[in-house]
Amino acid sequence: MLNATHYALRTTHYAPLMTIHELRQKFLDFFKEKGHAIIPSAPLLPENDPSVLFNTAGMQPLVPYLKGEIHPMGTRLADAQKCLRTGDIDEVGDNRHLTFFEMLGNWSLGDYFKEESIAWSFEFLTSDRWLGIDPKKIYVTVFEGDADAPRDETSIGIWQAQYEVKGIAAEIGVAEKDEPAEVDGARIYLYPKSKNWWPGATAKGLCGPDTEIFYDTGLPHSPAFGAVCHPNCDCGRFVEIWNNVFMQFNRVEEGGSLEVLPKKNVDTGMGLERTAAVLNGFTTVYDLDVFQVIFREIESLCDKQYGKEEAVDRSMRIIADHVRSATFAIGDGIIPSNVQQGYIIRRLIRRAIREGRRIGITESFCDKIANVVIGEFGVQYRELETKRSEIIAELVKEEEKFSKTVANGMKELERILEKGVMTSEQAFMLYSTYGFPLELTEEIVRERGGSVDHEAFMAEFEKHQELSRTASAGMFKGGLQDHSAETTRLHTATHLLHAALRKVLGDHVQQKGSNITAERLRFDFSHPSKMTAEEIAEVERLVNGAIQKDFPVTMEVMSPSEAKESGALGFFEQKYGDRVNVYTVGNDQTGVFSKEICGGPHVEHLGELGGFKIQKEEASSAGIRRIKAIIGVGH
Ligand code: SER
Repeated sequence: MLNATHYALRTTHYAPLMTIHELRQKFLDFFKEKGHAIIPSAPLLPENDPSVLFNTAGMQPLVPYLKGEIHPMGTRLADAQKCLRTGDIDEVGDNRHLTFFEMLGNWSLGDYFKEESIAWSFEFLTSDRWLGIDPKKIYVTVFEGDADAPRDETSIGIWQAQYEVKGIAAEIGVAEKDEPAEVDGARIYLYPKSKNWWPGATAKGLCGPDTEIFYDTGLPHSPAFGAVCHPNCDCGRFVEIWNNVFMQFNRVEEGGSLEVLPKKNVDTGMGLERTAAVLNGFTTVYDLDVFQVIFREIESLCDKQYGKEEAVDRSMRIIADHVRSATFAIGDGIIPSNVQQGYIIRRLIRRAIREGRRIGITESFCDKIANVVIGEFGVQYRELETKRSEIIAELVKEEEKFSKTVANGMKELERILEKGVMTSEQAFMLYSTYGFPLELTEEIVRERGGSVDHEAFMAEFEKHQELSRTASAGMFKGGLQDHSAETTRLHTATHLLHAALRKVLGDHVQQKGSNITAERLRFDFSHPSKMTAEEIAEVERLVNGAIQKDFPVTMEVMSPSEAKESGALGFFEQKYGDRVNVYTVGNDQTGVFSKEICGGPHVEHLGELGGFKIQKEEASSAGIRRIKAIIGVGH
């Protein structure tokens, strides 16, 4: 599957050819040898994290454990986590960006810290038993220190010792300064928080310095990117392959001061596809075998070939990436729809179909690509095999639906264009009534020499679509988002609902799942039968009563047994850390309305919520009911 140039390139690289499956396996085997439990990837759909639509980083599903909950598999974990980032959806196809990718990670939950983390990373990368990379090709970056937090001297010292064993005198590099740095001698580069701090320089919560590991591709530096080349230079010579985050602080408030954590964690992330690509000497992830097999399938469906024409390559890359993402997403139960995650998946599929038409594929094809994806990944991700027929059926259905949509929308579009120019209101009507994609409208109008006012369309869209609120809250972007005020309010409302359900239906009610978006809360709980209208009204009355009385919300830290004794709700079958946060709504004066073990965050006063309303009560699965509710409505 690899062309001659790739083979030639590869011979100039020390690393042997490796597939992503081999790299993944080596990574997990290595950390298993170092006493790590290998945990399965969490689904793409975050279970209890309202701040993101999908898991966008390896650490996301582990946040509760990084915050102190006890992980049932212990304090040393390693995994390959499925991630989906759609923030840069328009950049997919450019040969660097992927929407779906796997992130390899090793985790210390209050176990080892910098010494082992750095030494193991270096061993994995350079030992002949593992990746066998020439240590001279490894460059690292470390936090340089500022008024808020000190320079990470420990990491600098550990790195120097590691290089020394390999006979490399690792000088400290001067980065981002105008004078030329001796790149040949320097291996350790210091940067400020903007580069070497996770998650954000001022973000609230667990944080700390990180050390990032770069691979020197040997490509020449381009002066267009600055006089001096250094690891964070964008010229393409250095590629980041690993990020080791040392969570040693808690920032009490956004922009506030740092507290030293009693238990320090390590969170590392290695982008699987990107790392495999650079180690193979590829200039693009799409040279990897997993994508090449998909291209062969696409080629069999049209009369085009990959590697001949940039525009065709771009279409094929978009198809390969988007259908791979959709396959994994549907495998995790995310069904194409018009809202939330389902909408993103629908967009990915439709964009793939459009690119397919562009290169001359006339038949239904997403299902065929999905079969290739499942063939490629079904061993590592069994859910793809077990859900194969469902994935295929959804894709076929989606493709049929889109064909109809396009056919109907085209007729209407032609009618509009026959009469004159397309207004933004008409473009929006095509979108809202016919489901006709704006990008398609824009393209056709452009072909006829006109244009659609994009901003006016978006203004129209904002007026009509609640989804845009999610978008403006930043939820389509990759990375960790801070909890928005709205999701915090909904989170508190979830506690109220939980307590009220127990008061109205009985103590058998237990939380079985919770999901919060910027618009609504969703709560799954154990209860054998459909709730009556009276029961629903009573739950709403109790919750709204508490909100109207503006009960205070307070947090105390205690041991799990104290929490249980005090009547706090919690998942006691799960093992908690030594200390847990207990959130109480109400107090001795007002009466306690709700008390739960929870990581937060919550509002301080219920008055902030506004009126609470249950929109839907339905079955979720056998013995489990599901409620969707909103807040901020008039009482
Ligand atoms: N949290 C860090 C990242 O996502 C390391 O895993 O890059």
